Amino acid sequence: MPRKSTNIIITGFMATGKSTVGQILAARLQRPFIDTDAVISRKAGLSIPEIFEQYGEEDFRKREKEFLVYLQDKVHLVVATGGGMLVPPANLQLALETNWVVCLNASPEEIEQRIGKEDNRPLASEWEKVWEERQEFYQKIPIQVDTNNKEPLTIAEEIEKLWKKK
Ligand code: S3P
Repeated sequence: MPRKSTNIIITGFMATGKSTVGQILAARLQRPFIDTDAVISRKAGLSIPEIFEQYGEEDFRKREKEFLVYLQDKVHLVVATGGGMLVPPANLQLALETNWVVCLNASPEEIEQRIGKEDNRPLASEWEKVWEERQEFYQKIPIQVDTNNKEPLTIAEEIEKLWKKK
């Protein structure tokens, strides 16, 4: 696929700023922005916590996979994934086939601060365990961007530079 049309996928753990950074990046590059959680939620007519409650996590993962497959023949998008979308190795492999994928990282201390106590993410209460389990999977993503102590605009600019010199 020609470089200029490739989708940019921003992934990484919960609360690493994927959606905020993705929106800024999309505006800078004048591309449409898609948030996979928002689309899955809209299609279901339910919030993400409601999908987890009513259908369970496995069902949510199927919806994520379906959406990832759907993205494969799309172009020019900036996509922010839910934090678990590219954790299954088959999903990551698929994403890397036709998209440019970047993983955002944050320290556990930053994640804790950002998730806070009021968070309504279904996995928020067990985020530490999930974080530990997933590190090896996130580390397989070739492009990593550290978000600790950085503003979303700075992170978007960093990604834009990496993208432009790819
Ligand atoms: C999840 C992260 C959430 C959302 C769902 C599951 C995960 O998205 O997709 O609650 O498994 O890490 P964010 O990463 O945007 O919080």
